[in-house]
Amino acid sequence: MCGIVGYVGRSEAAPILLDGLRRLQYRGYDSAGIAILNSGHVETRKCAGRIAALSKLMTAKPASGTSGISHTRWATHGKPTDQNAHPHFDASGKLALVHNGVIENYQTLKDQLSHDGDRKYRSQTDTEVLAHLIGKLYDEAVAGVADPDQKKSALVSAVRNALQQVIGTYGIALVHSDIANFLIGARRGSPLVLGVGKEENFLASDVSAIVAYTRDAIYLNDFDVVAVERDKFEISSLAGESGDHQVSKVEFTAEDIKKGDYPHYMLKEIFEQPDSVRDAMRGRLSAEECTAKLGGLNMTPAQLRQVGRIVLTGCGTALHAAMVGEYIIEQLAHLPVEVEYASEFRHRNTPMTSDTLVFAITQSGETADTLGALRESRRKGYRTLGICNNVASTIARESDGGVYMHAGPEIGVAATKSFTSQVTILTLIGLLLGRMRHLSTSEGSDIIEALQALPGQIEQVLELSDEIKTIAEKYAQVSGMLFFGRQCNFPIALEGALKLKEITYLFAEGHPSAELKHGIIALVRPDLPSVFIAPDDAVFSKNLNNIEQVKARKGPIIALTSGAGAKQLNAIADDIITVPNAPDFVMPVLTAIPLQLLAYHLAVALGRDVDKPRNLAKSAPTVTTFARSEGFKSLPHLVV
Ligand code: F6R
Repeated sequence: MCGIVGYVGRSEAAPILLDGLRRLQYRGYDSAGIAILNSGHVETRKCAGRIAALSKLMTAKPASGTSGISHTRWATHGKPTDQNAHPHFDASGKLALVHNGVIENYQTLKDQLSHDGDRKYRSQTDTEVLAHLIGKLYDEAVAGVADPDQKKSALVSAVRNALQQVIGTYGIALVHSDIANFLIGARRGSPLVLGVGKEENFLASDVSAIVAYTRDAIYLNDFDVVAVERDKFEISSLAGESGDHQVSKVEFTAEDIKKGDYPHYMLKEIFEQPDSVRDAMRGRLSAEECTAKLGGLNMTPAQLRQVGRIVLTGCGTALHAAMVGEYIIEQLAHLPVEVEYASEFRHRNTPMTSDTLVFAITQSGETADTLGALRESRRKGYRTLGICNNVASTIARESDGGVYMHAGPEIGVAATKSFTSQVTILTLIGLLLGRMRHLSTSEGSDIIEALQALPGQIEQVLELSDEIKTIAEKYAQVSGMLFFGRQCNFPIALEGALKLKEITYLFAEGHPSAELKHGIIALVRPDLPSVFIAPDDAVFSKNLNNIEQVKARKGPIIALTSGAGAKQLNAIADDIITVPNAPDFVMPVLTAIPLQLLAYHLAVALGRDVDKPRNLAKSAPTVTTFARSEGFKSLPHLVV
């Protein structure tokens, strides 16, 4: 939930650390700070607010040096104030630490530290307690030591010993003024990558922060501790054992994570959807066998044939994709599907049959609740697969297999292209399982044809952007919006409402259309428009009925329809958005996009900070590597 960057090399560290933070702002942006090591002391600047405020501070009071650490924060412990901004220091003021994660037992550690006398803390953060603990262990070990190499290994040992006492999650980077040009990083549960350069090395929460400087990266594993110098690094485990680490080539460039001509990442990512949906299907459709090929599931046809039940789990937008997936897989494969909030599933003892297959759906692959659900499911012995965007993420590593989205970096905090990729992949899963059961070759072939037409249809939907902007501006003064849909489009109503809430801060709710009469109709009033997702499908007339009920109570109607639906809605809806006609199982992709655009244009009209909405950060990190690969590799599982 926070972003960290570290640098050691021959260049000035400050511009590199600030540049890295700017690229990590999606992870949090309520305060920021930097610590630079210079001639035996640590210079620090930190403040509440965004990177721009820190940058201003640095201009007013520059800090020079060739190594340092930096941090952008999404507050967990303590308010977003100057004092709570990272870096935090130990008692000596010589050790500076930045942290992403939560030290759950910080109070116990704090109490233990108080046994050797009163300690003065400058913040309310859990991180400062960790800085004190490491500093204390180091100071005890180096009393009377002058040799720099001994000091380095004493610092590494202090980090290991302290982290062995920690319950919780961390990605950390630290410097100590005793030791020039030396950083230490460590991770557990929060991502950390080592960027390998020429006479310079980097640490970062994700490679987007450092890809402008190096494309050689090592994705650290949980419990790794890395000691980093200009021209070398050493990775070991918390127990002190060294292990194998592979250098990966980052497949995207700094250009790929720029906004280009778009005013916001969110708009750029909305417009990338023809490509991201195409990439989700690339090499995965077999016209010859009329099915999908998903080798990364790591399951034989016989094993897939044995699946009797599916559980789809995730959070937020990924959960909405799962809900769409429930309709699609049930329709295509006739298998019972259940959708579980990952946050509930992980703590609930859900009865499941032994033939249940679990999918954890996540853009970042790092969302704590989804990871918790995955681990609980694996602990109970269920085969658990991932649908992830982030190739090097924890969920990708810990799953039994899965399907990568290949959607490319999603920087905007509001998820857009990852949603349509998730829905597309769930359709591929429905097709694959369906063809193993009751779908004929001609039905499989029709589904493939509909999927192949999808990117072109998305392009047509994107052409509606200006029209949707006009509608959004017309409704800029409303108090909120209600969203309604049926069947596959009910989750789209939820997703439309979530997008609107997140980036406009307006009240919004999504419901199945038929629920209106069971209570929601009481909300209907002239300043609360209802958005009906009513494509020209088997339930169109039922939606029409609901629209009439709202209209009769003076509720404005924005109708999102397809094909001939517009003609019937003309007399009744205030505004109509028409997407191309398509079969039910691809329609949710086409109806989701206008709602992303509606939320986007309304947020811009209201002057909101679209890419960095209030109180939010991209739940869990993102862009590590997007190397195209057939599927998830089996990796040794981490024991936590
Ligand atoms: C909504 C949004 C969040 C995420 C959710 C899960 O726009 O971005 O609701 O969808 O936090 O995140 P991932 O998919 O990374 O697990």
